[in-house]
Amino acid sequence: MSANREHFSSRLGFILAAAGSAVGIGNLVGFPVSATKNGGGAFLLVYALFVAFICLPVMMAEMAMGRKAQQDPYGAYKTLSGNDKKWSFAGMLAVLTPFMIAVFYMVITVWIFGYLAQTALGNLDALADPKHFGQFINQSSVFWYMLLVGLIVNLILVGGVKQGIEKAAKFLMPALFVLLIGLVGYVLTLDNAMAGVRYYVIPDFSKMNASVLNGALSQAFFSLSLGMGILMTYASYISKKEDIVGGAKMVAVTDSLVAFIAGLMVLPAIFSFNPATNPDELSESSVSMIFVYLPKILLAIQSDIGYTGASIVAFVFFLLVFFAAITSLVSIIEVPTAALIEEKKVSRKTALMILAGSTGALTVLCTMSFGMVDWLTQFISYGGAPKSLFDLVYDVFYDTILPLNGLMVCLFVIYRWKKIKLSEELSLGCDGYKGSFTEKYVNFSLSTFIPVILLIIFVNTVATKFF
Ligand code: PFF
Repeated sequence: MSANREHFSSRLGFILAAAGSAVGIGNLVGFPVSATKNGGGAFLLVYALFVAFICLPVMMAEMAMGRKAQQDPYGAYKTLSGNDKKWSFAGMLAVLTPFMIAVFYMVITVWIFGYLAQTALGNLDALADPKHFGQFINQSSVFWYMLLVGLIVNLILVGGVKQGIEKAAKFLMPALFVLLIGLVGYVLTLDNAMAGVRYYVIPDFSKMNASVLNGALSQAFFSLSLGMGILMTYASYISKKEDIVGGAKMVAVTDSLVAFIAGLMVLPAIFSFNPATNPDELSESSVSMIFVYLPKILLAIQSDIGYTGASIVAFVFFLLVFFAAITSLVSIIEVPTAALIEEKKVSRKTALMILAGSTGALTVLCTMSFGMVDWLTQFISYGGAPKSLFDLVYDVFYDTILPLNGLMVCLFVIYRWKKIKLSEELSLGCDGYKGSFTEKYVNFSLSTFIPVILLIIFVNTVATKFF
């Protein structure tokens, strides 16, 4: 099986693709805003500790499973458990979760693409109207944008691992970096920019409480694309010679660095627009930040560099977010694609067609659940309020099932697959892993407090969201 399995051509290709998955919409806007609201430097510190001591071991475990099995997540659970039926549920969830998250992420990526197109057409003033977003998401033009985004994602995926995913990541990730640094460089020259930077980095430990800690950990977990089967799938495309431990560290550092640098772009822009901004009053939601608040700020830049200049800055910003979203979407759709190819023995083209049809239909329904169609908008009621189909997909898969999938990975590698095999796999390509502090820490944390923390987050989310 693994002899004719496609592989990334190099370690760099794998790292760029995995970092492309990790760097997403959440990094660029969600992270900076939530850091500023929740204690600035104190949040940054806690976040970094969570990444290093909780997320990284889970990341290594996911990668080890994928590389060992050289299969999609469903196949990995099946093979590594010796066909133990008890674990097939975990395998199924590890494929269903990315399928459903792809749907909700696609909805948002389509809006980003729509805003990108609008800035290219010179319509920044329309985007800055506070009523525009509500109207835009209920216009039939979103379906055209959806078609184009679907086409772009499928064009990348049809190329396979080397010619598709890796090639796209090798272009999009460096481009993303250049756009980000360019924007930071410009934004830092604006009046009052430093007030934003100060709010972002100066620690305020008084803001720390259980819910902030929970939020920081969940954010780190999502941001590193854990629990989505993605890293298992991507790691199944790397050779036994590569160092997973080093690769995981590189991915975590890149992802966190991009999130941090994004704060040096977003906060100065916000504070230069309104020096009296009270961070507590900033919206927690990335969606309203990106589509309602930021366009207003971007338009205001015209007093500095004129309307065309402001439109160019806005275009670069949406292009940056779009690149980040595309590499994430590609990674998440690759999981069910690999599962269909390997479990159902269909060709890549057929798998992509099946997924385009199924995720496409669900994306259309989710898109219509923002007011176009009543029964989708008021789809279900829980937690004391009516919820749309989109809310349901988000709450169930993004908020709730991810920590559960992480928990399954911990339990599986330690208690079913066993530590010794995990160590064996992680030591390939990483001389000195055996007996190292990292090995001891990974084995200890995965078998003790990490699964406990993930279980608490899972139970807490179920209790607070659904009851
Ligand atoms: N790390 C991604 C982000 O921060 O946006 C998480 C992700 C979400 C990856 C959705 C892929 C995806 F489709």
